[in-house]
Amino acid sequence: MKKRVYSGIRATGRLHLGNYMGAVKGMLELQDKYDCVFSVVDLHTITVPYEPDTLGVSIRNIVLDYLAAGLDPKKCLLEIQSRVPQHTELAYLLSTIYPVSRLEDLPTYKDKKAQYPKYVNMGLLYYPVLMAADVLLYKGELVPVGIDQKPHLEVMREIARKFNSMFGDTFPEPVRFKTPGEYVPSLSGTGKMSKSIEGSFINLTDDLATIQKRLASAPTDSGEVGGDIPESGGVANLFSLLRLFAGKEVYSKFMQDYKDKKIRYSELKEVLANAIFKELKPFAEKRKEFEANTKLVDEVIESSNNACRQLAEETMREVREKMGL
Ligand code: TRP
Repeated sequence: MKKRVYSGIRATGRLHLGNYMGAVKGMLELQDKYDCVFSVVDLHTITVPYEPDTLGVSIRNIVLDYLAAGLDPKKCLLEIQSRVPQHTELAYLLSTIYPVSRLEDLPTYKDKKAQYPKYVNMGLLYYPVLMAADVLLYKGELVPVGIDQKPHLEVMREIARKFNSMFGDTFPEPVRFKTPGEYVPSLSGTGKMSKSIEGSFINLTDDLATIQKRLASAPTDSGEVGGDIPESGGVANLFSLLRLFAGKEVYSKFMQDYKDKKIRYSELKEVLANAIFKELKPFAEKRKEFEANTKLVDEVIESSNNACRQLAEETMREVREKMGL
């Protein structure tokens, strides 16, 4: 039997290049080899302040991005988390076997508390339990997510172990699946590409001119430093992007230029902009097609979520029985 893969993206507006390379590209690779469920985790989305009026559009946007990126509903299931009520049921049941103190100690919870001091709600504390339920509901074994999700994976594994020891062997212990482009650096020169940092990201539907403009403001140096490429900062990030999108040969050429103090960043940015645009163009085209085909997208959502509910219910029957309910 094929292993099951589960991953989810929160519905906070459109995806950017970082999500695409990090999350969606990994999903593409997996859909051919495994039994995959890829979700829009809308119940996680509402743990921080949000707009109820536009949430529906954001959810649909992620589905459209999934489809345009090449996720194929014939090969994988596309889920909208809130349409599979078993997620919350399982999350509640699992919450009864997990200590509050461990959840309060998680760095992700502390970060969110600091970020939204007036919005410290139960859902935020519950976040990792719901995430564990997401994957365990489908008995998922592989979880393609970024390194920042490691603490959540730990909770998931602990919950699986604890459940198995209390109620009998039921769940696998899921592991994180690493994808090659999981770290897409920021254009601003520090950290990773992020939607919340202006000047750090490229949108998946940006045209060539916009990509050029965004790259133009990425910081560089005088070009006369020479030697090895720095390990961090603007130049380092541009080189990482170059390797990710333009390939090894182009990367090596500019690396040599850098060493020889001959580098011209205008040229590097031009090559990089073209390479990124080349990667994104088919995506933008396909997305337009799906946007126009409302009926098809509705059908995909309907049938995928039907199939998800059936799978989920199988697990729930087993869980309820094992817990004596
Ligand atoms: N917490 C994940 C993130 O912020 C999103 C998520 C929710 C998820 N449930 C999941 C990812 C289950 C993988 C599997 O990226």
